[in-house]
Amino acid sequence: MSKKKVLFVCLGNICRSPSAEAVFRGLVKSKGVAREFEIDSAGTYAYHKGEPADRRMQQHAIKRGFDLTSISRPFFRETDWDNFDYIVAMDNSNFSDLSAMARNADDLKKLFKITDFSTEFDYDQIPDPYYGGDEGFELVLDLLEDAGEGFYKFVNNK
Ligand code: 4NP
Repeated sequence: MSKKKVLFVCLGNICRSPSAEAVFRGLVKSKGVAREFEIDSAGTYAYHKGEPADRRMQQHAIKRGFDLTSISRPFFRETDWDNFDYIVAMDNSNFSDLSAMARNADDLKKLFKITDFSTEFDYDQIPDPYYGGDEGFELVLDLLEDAGEGFYKFVNNK
């Protein structure tokens, strides 16, 4: 069986999408289906390329058992659309930036926004925690844990 390939995308790839990657990795591991998935993350903005996840995000994530190990990399228009089945944006701006980078209608069919899979929360995007305090990082994780479950169900029903 071919793997389901998922790429989570935010702006800097140092806060929200590395967290989405780790939360979803944890979720598929807990369900015993880790081998069915390939999971990665990227940013629409290359400024933090080569950096580990933001230390504050790492500290909040590890308290919930999520080890953020990814290194920031930009979204690659020429290869990521082809290499992944699902490109999952964290906020409305990432979504519109990615839409503008789509090469054709098939690319656009792969594009989603993570909060479309929320079940317990009524947020239409994951707010950027970078310039805020502790509560913003906790909210990122709350939203991702919830929406990750919804996304998993969506992918599995395809
Ligand atoms: P992320 O957060 O998109 O969740 O990784 C941000 C990281 C860096 C910046 C903004 C948001 N920045 O302006 O450098």
